Amino acid sequence: MKAIKITRPGDSSVLELQEQPTPQPQSGQLLIRVRAAGINRSDIHQRIGGYKMDPTGQIPGLEVAGIVEQCGPNTSRWQVGDSVCALISGGGYADYVTVDERHCLPIPPNMTFAEAASLPETILTVWSTVFRWGHLSDGENLLVHGGSSGIGVTAIQLAKAFGANAYATAGSDEKCAFCEQIGAIKCINYKKEDFEKALTDIEINVILDMVGGDYTPKNLRLLAMDGRLMFINAMQGANSQIHIPTLMQKRITISGSMLKPRDANFKANLTADVEKQVWPLLTNGRLKPVIYRTFPLSEAAKAQDLMASSEHIGKIILEVD
Ligand SMILES: NC(=O)c1ccc[n+]([C@@H]2O[C@H](COP(=O)([O-])OP(=O)(O)OC[C@H]3O[C@@H](n4cnc5c(N)ncnc54)[C@H](OP(=O)(O)O)[C@@H]3O)[C@@H](O)[C@H]2O)c1
Repeated sequence: MKAIKITRPGDSSVLELQEQPTPQPQSGQLLIRVRAAGINRSDIHQRIGGYKMDPTGQIPGLEVAGIVEQCGPNTSRWQVGDSVCALISGGGYADYVTVDERHCLPIPPNMTFAEAASLPETILTVWSTVFRWGHLSDGENLLVHGGSSGIGVTAIQLAKAFGANAYATAGSDEKCAFCEQIGAIKCINYKKEDFEKALTDIEINVILDMVGGDYTPKNLRLLAMDGRLMFINAMQGANSQIHIPTLMQKRITISGSMLKPRDANFKANLTADVEKQVWPLLTNGRLKPVIYRTFPLSEAAKAQDLMASSEHIGKIILEVD
């Protein structure tokens, strides 16, 4: 099969299209013929050597959509020919990938493979962080930093669908207009305006933050009593000042999570929960995939460069013939 490999840590030129052995499904796994694969920010982190590197190189890619080609031993739910999308722990930039059958979801009716490949990583991350862990509930206010990211557009739409009010920050007026178009009550262009000042009259219950650094003191000041600050990255800085009395006075909870290293049973349980609670929103149109651009598999480097530029709104997808 053809696959994109990270040949060594570095810029996008280290991504090479190579001939690779097709993986074989093990117990509980399916072999999927990949038709589309989502690009995620952590693929770039992996490429530059941010995670422990397998010396023989790695195939990136944390989510795919495609067709079940083969069912391994001890699988029961899916049949050869089924269209599925799935969360995987790597290997998505390829013609074929193996996946735990419990991490697969049915492709909603009338959805393209590219659209379906844009769903698993963002929905599972937002569902686990904002709803299961952050307990965002009906009528509460959510602030999403990076509102135009793949994660951000999912968080805004899900908050609205579950009766919460979404606020966002993003780095341009165009991005902010888009966030408001998909359901944010207000989006602040953080390059023009201080988001803390702009939101000072709003009692924020949950903040989904991927920025860290000097956002943290502002986030803590914006949070309401019993507010929850949930980290999924720290793109601006890993260290922040925390004013402990603010935490104590408002009984704030600070937490964070990483989906990728969670074990297979956790991911299976989360996937089942998402299928029950979130998947119907894709059928009734209350949650829509947002795709900025697709690239052929051979242009994975260009796709990652576009993501690194942060020009995009929503998801960037690789299409696999
Ligand atoms: N922990 C987890 O399990 C988990 C899972 C999935 C994703 N994530 C993280 O969630 C974030 C979004 O992921 P994604 O794949 O959706 O990425 P993405 O689409 O590339 O979005 C990232 C956005 O963040 C903004 N940004 C970049 N650097 C920034 C900075 N220094 N300060 C403020 N904003 C900045 C950019 O938009 P602006 O124009 O607004 O700056 C950019 O579009 C990433 O950081 C990713 O690593 C974490």
